[in-house]
Amino acid sequence: MIKLSEIEPPEIKLPEIKLVDQYKRRLDYLRISVTDRCNMKCIYCMTHEKTSKLPCREILRYEEIIRIARIFTRLGVSKIRITGGEPLVRKGICEFLSGIRKLEGLSDLSITTNGVFLKDKIKQIKSAGIRRLNISLDTLDKDKFKNISGIDAFSEVWESIMTALDMGFDPIKINVVALKGINDDELPDFARLSLSYPFQIRFIEYMPIGTSRMTSRQLLAPEIKNRISSIGRLDPVENISVDGPAKRFRFENAKGEVGFIRPISEHFCSSCNRLRLTASGNLKTCLLSETETDLKGPLRKGCSESELAEIILKAVYKKPFEHPLIANSEGIISGEMSAIGG
Ligand code: 5AD
Ligand code: SF4
Repeated sequence: MIKLSEIEPPEIKLPEIKLVDQYKRRLDYLRISVTDRCNMKCIYCMTHEKTSKLPCREILRYEEIIRIARIFTRLGVSKIRITGGEPLVRKGICEFLSGIRKLEGLSDLSITTNGVFLKDKIKQIKSAGIRRLNISLDTLDKDKFKNISGIDAFSEVWESIMTALDMGFDPIKINVVALKGINDDELPDFARLSLSYPFQIRFIEYMPIGTSRMTSRQLLAPEIKNRISSIGRLDPVENISVDGPAKRFRFENAKGEVGFIRPISEHFCSSCNRLRLTASGNLKTCLLSETETDLKGPLRKGCSESELAEIILKAVYKKPFEHPLIANSEGIISGEMSAIGG
């Protein structure tokens, strides 16, 4: 078996043009979903009905992902985030991370995980060169955790977070999807975590994607901010380039921060720098658009890297200007978040 670390970059000249769309946005951030599988069934992500999973042959092999990712880095992508489903359920993930880490031109590699298997793999993840972690956690209550995610694993996730902290991962971002009547009573508790821990607590507005139907529970950032304001004064923190779209704040003397991700109340489309590679090998230039461009097909048919680069550049040029979601709209975007990768 070929070791991922031994795959040599082929000597093929790629076009000089970098990834820019027709609105002159530079796309330098790629999110790669390595699997559509997940060990959880979060209420806002999938329904509890059986959703069909991609057959294995339809999922990109690690070597294929690395070949595609290399084309992206040569075209100007400098930041990659590995997502799922749950990326840590896929076998061989740590070796894959080391392989991706070696791509020339990559300045930032991070991972989004639900944290359940993080503790077991955390040493290998650190050795693979990952320093930045996003961990999803929507409640601090053990029973509620089970109701939201379908599994009884609060303690595992919390232990993972504490281990990550001890091991010096920085930043540790905690993603909280805010939902009325489900976890809105805990928003101040989450915000208070930022007082004593150096975490970035990020409150996320629910997006009506796929089969999830939680729109009646959608809570928008101004309301979330209002609910945590009793804790103290929130001072804005200036964003730096690797921050992404979160609007960041800090309570006085807090070790950490709170942030708001506002795809609905104030979408960040005009400055969007993101591209997505789905587990099935499609390029999605907008999370909330139906349009996908098949990269796996051409790759498996033996397309050269420069031909693939052409396909990518054309698709990227047509990236939609903005998404159509507004507050209280129902799930008009098809596909599962778990397959697209958040
Ligand atoms: N709306 C908003 N955020 C979502 N996530 C998953 N589904 C949704 C949704 N429908 C978030 C999870 C995770 C990240 C990958 O995406 O909380 O942190
Ligand atoms: Fe939950 Fe993330 Fe798994 Fe979806 S992919 S069920 S949000 S842990």
